[in-house]
Amino acid sequence: MSAADTPMFEARGVSLRFGGVQALTDVSFHIKKGELFSIIGPNGAGKTSMVNCISGRYRPTDGKVYFKGQDVTGMTPNHRAALGIGRTFQNLALFGHMTVLDNIMVGRHHLLKNNFLTGALYWFTGARQEELAHRREVEEIIDFLEIQHVRKATAGTLSYGLRKRVELARAIALKPDLILLDEPMAGMNLEEKEDMARYIVDLNEEWGMTVVMIEHDMGVVMDISHRVMVLEFGKKIAEGSPEEVLADPRVKRAYLGEDDEEEAAPPQKQEVA
Ligand SMILES: Nc1ncnc2c1ncn2[C@@H]1O[C@H](COP(=O)(O)OP(=O)(O)O)[C@@H](O)[C@H]1O
Ligand SMILES: [Mg+2]
Repeated sequence: MSAADTPMFEARGVSLRFGGVQALTDVSFHIKKGELFSIIGPNGAGKTSMVNCISGRYRPTDGKVYFKGQDVTGMTPNHRAALGIGRTFQNLALFGHMTVLDNIMVGRHHLLKNNFLTGALYWFTGARQEELAHRREVEEIIDFLEIQHVRKATAGTLSYGLRKRVELARAIALKPDLILLDEPMAGMNLEEKEDMARYIVDLNEEWGMTVVMIEHDMGVVMDISHRVMVLEFGKKIAEGSPEEVLADPRVKRAYLGEDDEEEAAPPQKQEVA
């Protein structure tokens, strides 16, 4: 296998138990470089558990996970972040008392080689140049997500939709090769969802980031994903293009509780403006 064919991420036989709860059972899949890959499934299906196994927050009870061909199963989340795995969190608040700008700068701190930004050394060691470059990149992210107008605002005062956008900015600021988005549109109104979907597509197409997304809105998932994996009760029940997954009888059953024979409408594909 040439380097170009090496998957961005691969899970081999991943199982995860919490005491008596079997959150994941023998899940194998891979994500190609440049893909926008979605994980869907009913509540409790193991989606967040899987993403946590990618980020390193959870360690599989069995099986292995590989990032760019490297076995990262035993690595901490910080180590994996340094290798290029970034994420937003389903419920992690921003630093509410800090400005939007500072929240995003925090996301980049580990990228700074020079950490002594005060005192005389700052001017002589390249630390100043480094900080200026760093600020330019942060401004680029702010422009991309169209949050210039709130860059000096205190994060805690922002609307829900804007807060989610700042969280995304903070994750992007780490310059990850693989970004994990756990329900990035949860709780958003239609307009906010459409905006977020467009940012995610641009992130994938223009910034070249490989994206893993958990999302409940089937219209969005089917519209923007290259491939979709479906989990149910911790097991993979389908994987493929949106069309393949929508046509899969097991997926129809999981979502609609219908019989194989019955004709019922699958989740509809919708356009995102
Ligand atoms: N930290 C944990 N401790 C105990 N059980 C957990 C933990 N995280 C998840 N689970 C259980 O694992 C199963 C899968 O949960 P989760 O991955 O959050 O599902 P999803 O994101 O698809 O809704 C559920 O039964 C959930 O209760
Ligand atoms: Mg979840």
